[in-house]
Amino acid sequence: MELFQVGTDPWGQEILIRLSWTLLTAAFWAGIAFILFHAIYVIVWKPKVDHGDEPTVDPPAGIPDKVVRHTGAARMFHWVMAASMLVLLGTGFLPIIGLEFAWLNIHWIAGLILILCILYHIVHASFFLDFWSIWILPADFGEAVKRTKRQLGQQVTLGKHGKYPLDHKLYHLAVSVFGLLVSATGLLMMLRIDTPIVSRNDQFFTENNWGVLYTLHGFAAVLFVTLTITHIYFAIRPDKLWMTKAMIFGWVSKSDYLAHHDPEKWKVESK
Ligand code: HEM
Repeated sequence: MELFQVGTDPWGQEILIRLSWTLLTAAFWAGIAFILFHAIYVIVWKPKVDHGDEPTVDPPAGIPDKVVRHTGAARMFHWVMAASMLVLLGTGFLPIIGLEFAWLNIHWIAGLILILCILYHIVHASFFLDFWSIWILPADFGEAVKRTKRQLGQQVTLGKHGKYPLDHKLYHLAVSVFGLLVSATGLLMMLRIDTPIVSRNDQFFTENNWGVLYTLHGFAAVLFVTLTITHIYFAIRPDKLWMTKAMIFGWVSKSDYLAHHDPEKWKVESK
């Protein structure tokens, strides 16, 4: 499988142009394969390793019937970011798979909206949300070991998690890293096109370094194909709908909260 598209400069030397789009096909099928394996795993294997040994907790008094999971501002960020991401994926990749249209202006405008969303989210999460709740901390490594043992069929008490389990934290980490990469490279690539915002400057990088930049942008972009497919799959799985509803309405029921979370690790405000 080709990983890169290469060309030649005026002196006949080989230079990097961009990522090979065979990786787009690979990223798409990786997402589909993940969904199929996960769906089969849940039906066939999970009942064998799920020993139903989660400790029951005596719920502390005062937990409200509706537990706020996402504030209105957090939900607005999520949906604007989701919309801009879908527009970026559509405008970035549909022309590559053969649907010709004037994609470039829509693409960089959606890109700037995504970047504004990310900047907003960084400030909001740093000063107004529980910043550390989504990051992988030393305590999570214990959970990782327990989960692996459980997958291997050993009987372990997993315990309940705080606001976000390890898999959510891993997903958020991947989206953060590749979101920043696609945004930084996209911003610099605006110097290679005509926009009313910044004047075009083809000489800003050498031809080969432009190639490196386009390759990094393409790499992060194709990863978002897999990340988006798997994210939407989990969002519409019947057993995860309680979380998806929380991203629409803002709250989870008291019973869902107690079934999935440890009140010691995710403390909610009692009325
Ligand atoms: C996950 C989000 C994104 C995806 C899936 C995506 C996808 C793509 C793809 C597939 C290309 C074609 C690259 C090539 O021809 O080698 C591209 C080009 C480009 N993207 Fe993105 N992109 C994303 C985010 C962004 C962001 C945040 C910006 C910032 C404004 C941006 C700005 C650009 C620009 C300026 C080009 C150059 C077009 C050209 O030179 O013809 N993109 N993008």
